[in-house]
Amino acid sequence: MTDLATFVAGLPKAELHLHIEGSLEPEQMFALAARNRIAIPFRSVEELRGAYSFSRLQDFLDIYYQGADVLRTEEDFHDLAAAYFDRAAADHVRHAEIFFDPQTHTDRGIPFQVVVDGLLAGMAGARAKHGLTSKLILCFLRHLDEDAAFATLAAAEPWLDRIAGVGLDSSELGHPPAKFARVFARAGEMGLRRVAHAGEEGPPAYVHEALNLLHIDRLDHGNRSLEDAALTTRLARSGMTLTVCPLSNLKLCVVDDIDAHPIARMLRLGLRATVNSDDPAYFGGYVNDNYRALIPGGMLDAGDFATLARNSFLGSFLDDEDVARHLAALDAYVDASLS
Ligand code: HPA
Ligand code: ZN
Repeated sequence: MTDLATFVAGLPKAELHLHIEGSLEPEQMFALAARNRIAIPFRSVEELRGAYSFSRLQDFLDIYYQGADVLRTEEDFHDLAAAYFDRAAADHVRHAEIFFDPQTHTDRGIPFQVVVDGLLAGMAGARAKHGLTSKLILCFLRHLDEDAAFATLAAAEPWLDRIAGVGLDSSELGHPPAKFARVFARAGEMGLRRVAHAGEEGPPAYVHEALNLLHIDRLDHGNRSLEDAALTTRLARSGMTLTVCPLSNLKLCVVDDIDAHPIARMLRLGLRATVNSDDPAYFGGYVNDNYRALIPGGMLDAGDFATLARNSFLGSFLDDEDVARHLAALDAYVDASLS
């Protein structure tokens, strides 16, 4: 039998919680700044990396929106996505459902078309180069208002056949899901899947709102659901997928000890938890780094890691046939590794 770290790294997996702007590595940020002749307020990659110290979500968001300013052209968005997919493929990611934040770009004058066409080109390239499939999820920035979200949804109309769903991200506290109930209802009528960040910093009540008012198909983070036993039971019974991000939780002080991360408890409670990287360039690692970070705590065995990978396909928006194909490959890998 292979050792646990090797086994976990080689598991075929899907990534369901990845902000493509959060995969912008400092080296690439400097390269794009030079290409676009933009000054950035850091002298070196080391100095920039040194600024990645956060005590709450907002600390990170401030620097993340600032970093995204180097993204200007379709080629920039293509290169950003291509770099992420190369890393994901090396981690045995077979399918990725990636978030993008159009308002971060349209609000500084970058056309929606530049963003989405660049990302779609990167996605097509990953399929050709790695056989890695992907879907796009348009996130509304929750610190902005409902009208801005509706305008973003309208801007997306020409690409609706290439956008799988909508999500909700940015500053959670003070911006409850209820604020976006109507725009999520409209997105549902348009045939889009719905996901939302809830229960990362926000209380269990925000998870209730995401379920009851946004009618989400998947819950992003969801950690604080565990504070509410009835909510936990509801999530488990309904088979709701939680896209959990261990290193993000550590960096943003959602948990204070990675070895006591609640993901093992989530599995024991029957929750369909998955492992994801969130913003890998800012939080210290890609999806395999997140899986690996859970090993030293000793709360998960090989079977649990296989369950986490299995959940990633079950929670994806792939059709049943593709899910079955990925699960068969996963089972074959597990059988071969554990025998
Ligand atoms: N939470 C909320 N908004 C975000 C995040 C996150 O972890 N990453 C990028 N936008
Ligand atoms: Zn996120």
